[in-house]
Formats: sequence, structure tokens, C-alpha cells
Amino acid sequence: MITRIVWMQFRPEAVNAFLALFHERAPRIRSFPGCHHLALWRDRAQPHVMCTYSLWESEAALEAYRHAELFRDTWAQTKPLFAARPRAWSFDTVWPTEASLDYPIYFGQAAPQLEQLLGQHAPSSVAVLVDTHTALYCYPHIRSVLPADHLLIRIPAGETHKQLDTCQYIWSQMLQAQLDRQALLINLGGGVIGDMGGFCAHCWKRGIRFVQVPTTLLAQVDASTGGKLGVDFMDVKNIIGAFGDPLAVVIDTTFLRTLPPAQLRSGFAEVVKHALIADAEHWQQLIQLPTLDAADWTQIVPHSLAIKRQIVAADPYERGLRKALNFGHTIGHAIESAALHTTESLLHGEAIAIGMICESWLSAKKAGLPDDELQAITHFLLRIFGCYPLNNLPIADLLALMANDKKNEGQGVNFSLLPHIGAVEINHTATPEEIQDSLAYYMETCRQQDTAKPH
Ligand SMILES: NC(=O)c1ccc[n+]([C@@H]2O[C@H](COP(=O)([O-])OP(=O)(O)OC[C@H]3O[C@@H](n4cnc5c(N)ncnc54)[C@H](O)[C@@H]3O)[C@@H](O)[C@H]2O)c1
Ligand SMILES: [Zn+2]
Repeated sequence: MITRIVWMQFRPEAVNAFLALFHERAPRIRSFPGCHHLALWRDRAQPHVMCTYSLWESEAALEAYRHAELFRDTWAQTKPLFAARPRAWSFDTVWPTEASLDYPIYFGQAAPQLEQLLGQHAPSSVAVLVDTHTALYCYPHIRSVLPADHLLIRIPAGETHKQLDTCQYIWSQMLQAQLDRQALLINLGGGVIGDMGGFCAHCWKRGIRFVQVPTTLLAQVDASTGGKLGVDFMDVKNIIGAFGDPLAVVIDTTFLRTLPPAQLRSGFAEVVKHALIADAEHWQQLIQLPTLDAADWTQIVPHSLAIKRQIVAADPYERGLRKALNFGHTIGHAIESAALHTTESLLHGEAIAIGMICESWLSAKKAGLPDDELQAITHFLLRIFGCYPLNNLPIADLLALMANDKKNEGQGVNFSLLPHIGAVEINHTATPEEIQDSLAYYMETCRQQDTAKPH
């Protein structure tokens, strides 16, 4: 599958002419042989800046389209409307060809991939960072390909240990083992291990090489790419950190077999998010799943990760488009933080699933998401995630948490919303009343469905 992103800047007075042309042509382009998806990504704060996002069966299909009369005519009509020369990127399935992310991602069995990487890069020594669970479930699968004298650093599992004290422990182990600048660290675990291990490697002697081996679904489709490393500090998440790329990412979906179901479901929220913002066809496949046990992760993970990578590649410095990834997260993060202080704990993805339902409601109200799509999203997410008693959370505190979000610029709370499934518009704003109504929609739908949270 080939993804094509075209970034366009129009003369302000030409915006409506382009939108009319796009709405007239899009159905014809979507039914062109080999075209799987076409969507327009828009930035509400800069209405004259837009991206088209399309998916093609193959390079040949895209080439055929670019030689077709339909393309030539559409292009000829669009050209006079531009204010700047458009920029375009094409990516094959997973590897962006012109991306700023130039480290490879390998799929398949971790042990042989690691053996090959170690042979190729010949580090002076190898350290492996694990937590109590990945020491038990994942480390035995790669141990045989590591040098006999490798350093195993084991830390307690869980977000509460993603902090500077643990980094100190990791660095003290590295010091004792006298790791030099040619050493290599393998981060074997979920997002906590990847973020913190990457950060420790990034700082050790001003940076040693590290390989991410994500073992949770969340880490495989999200945390292991994008270059963000770091730890929490004084109860603020990810506040100390850096951008840094791994030498490689090795993704082995067989690790997911030992993952607790709640953790699997949590990571699945990001998979759903990626489909909703960029890939209507993938969404159609996901909603066919009777349960997560039936999922073929070897298909789903590369596909979902590709979407994240493409968005990061199109906006490596987080200037705009990357905000698309915030869908579900504005309300979701606030719910996640508020739930920390209650007895009903919520995992990240569980909170994001609620956030996606509320933000889909906002999408219907403000971005034109059709009602049947809102119903489909709500129904599917409630089927997988069940209902959570939001009325136990103080709504006023929730709204205050959202208003304080660092992503807000100026008035109102910033949202990335869906005009339809498979497309996203960044920089929408909503008022506290609208947000409250979206939470009420979630609670009311739950009350009608009377679905209990699965355990
Ligand atoms: N860097 C980024 O861009 C980015 C993006 C999203 C999330 N994150 C970060 O990721 C973290 C959350 O990641 P997570 O959900 O993977 O959490 P996690 O690393 O805490 O893993 C969740 C739990 O699963 C266990 N586990 C991991 N792999 C297992 C396996 N194969 N079998 C059995 N148990 C296993 C872990 O020990 C842990 O108890 C957060 O700190 C978040 O900030 C980072
Ligand atoms: Zn997330």
C-alpha cells in the first residue's frame, strides 16, 4: 500500500473554490482503480492550509492515476488556486521514503532480528532493560542471542517507576558495568521501559545507541516511534525528556500473547484512533472483529504503526499536522488524570476510548461527522471498552484540567475532530458547555446501553 500526502497552501480567496472542486472530484478519485482512500485534512486555525491524504494499492496504481485525464484536469483546475508550491510525500507500507525518521522498523521474531543487529553494529557491550513482567515473559525469548556477558537491568513494573530515581538506578548499573560510548541498550518492555530506557541511553555519556523492542500493543503502535523520550516528574507526565531516535525498532507481535487483556484493550484504543483519523478501510476491518482475541496482530500492528509514522514524518517538528494524533486525547487525558484520584482506575487507552466517544460527538456538532458514523463509533467503542462511571468524577475539575492543557492556544479548548471517518481537522475549539454536553452524551448512551465495564 502506498500513502500519498500532499500539503497545499491556497490563496485565501481561493479556498471555497478548492473545496467545491474537491467535493465534486473526491468520489470519482476514490473509485479510480487502486485508490483505497482519499481524505482532506484541514487546519481550522489556518483555513487556507490543507493536506490530502490518500491510500493506493501500489506504486503502479498511483502512477496510472497521475497519468489519467481525471488527475490532469483536477490538477489544472487546482494550480491557479495555490499561494505556494505544494509539497508531496509518498510512503510505501511502513517505511517512509522521504521521512526525517531514518531508523528502520523490523517486524517478525525478535531474537533473529536482534542477533543480526548486534552482528552488524558490533557494540562494545550490551545492556538490556526490563521490568519485572518483561523479565519473566519476554527476556527468555531473546536471551540466547545476547552476548554471555550482557548486563541485565531490572526495574519494578509500572508508570509510578517512570521517574528520575529509577534513572539513577539504571545509570548506577551502567557505571558499575563500565559501559562506554560504544555500548548498546536494548529496551525490552512497554512504553515505560521505552521512554525511560531511551532517555537513559540518550543521556549516558551524551548518548549511546539503543534499540526499542516494544512488548505492549500501545508501545508497538504508538510509543516506540516518534522520538519522544522521557520520565515523569513531581506528578507531571513526561515533563523531563528529549527527542532522540533509536538505532532500530524491533516489533514482535508474539510478545502480545502474555499481555493482560486490559493492557491489550488499552493499546487497541490507539489502533482505533489511527483508523478513525486516517483510514476508513481499516476502520471497516476493525469493526468486524467479534473480540480482540480474534485479532490478527501481525496485520493490524504494521498497518496502524504506518499511519502514526506517516503523520510524524509529515510533521516531524510538531508544528501542526501531528496534532491529528490528539483525537480523543483532549478529553481522554483529562479523564485519565481525574481518575488517578479515584478507586476506579483507568488505563490510558480506556480513558482515550471515552475521549474518542465524546470528541466524536463534538465532531458531529462542529465538524460535520454524519450521525450514522457517530453511532457506529460509539457502538463499537462501548462494545470493546464497556462503560465507565464518569459521574464519579468531578466534572468541574475535568473542565479545569482541559482548560490548562498545554496544547491550547488562545480562547477555547483545542480539539482535533473528524469531519467523517478516515479524515481529521486540527485546531477546532469547543466551549466548556459543549464539552460538558459531550460528556453527558457518553453518560446517557451508557445509561441506555447499561453495559458494564469488562474486567
Ligand atoms: N513516546 C511516546 O510517543 C509515547 C506515546 C504513548 C505513550 N507513551 C508512554 O507509554 C507509557 C505506557 O506504555 P504501556 O501501556 O506500554 O505501559 P507499561 O510499559 O507500563 O506496560 C504495561 C504493563 O504491561 C506489562 N508488560 C509489558 N509487556 C508485557 C508482555 N509482553 N507480557 C506481559 N506483560 C507485559 C508491563 O510490565 C506493565 O505492567 C506511558 O508512560 C506513556 O507516557 C509514550
Ligand atoms: Zn495515547
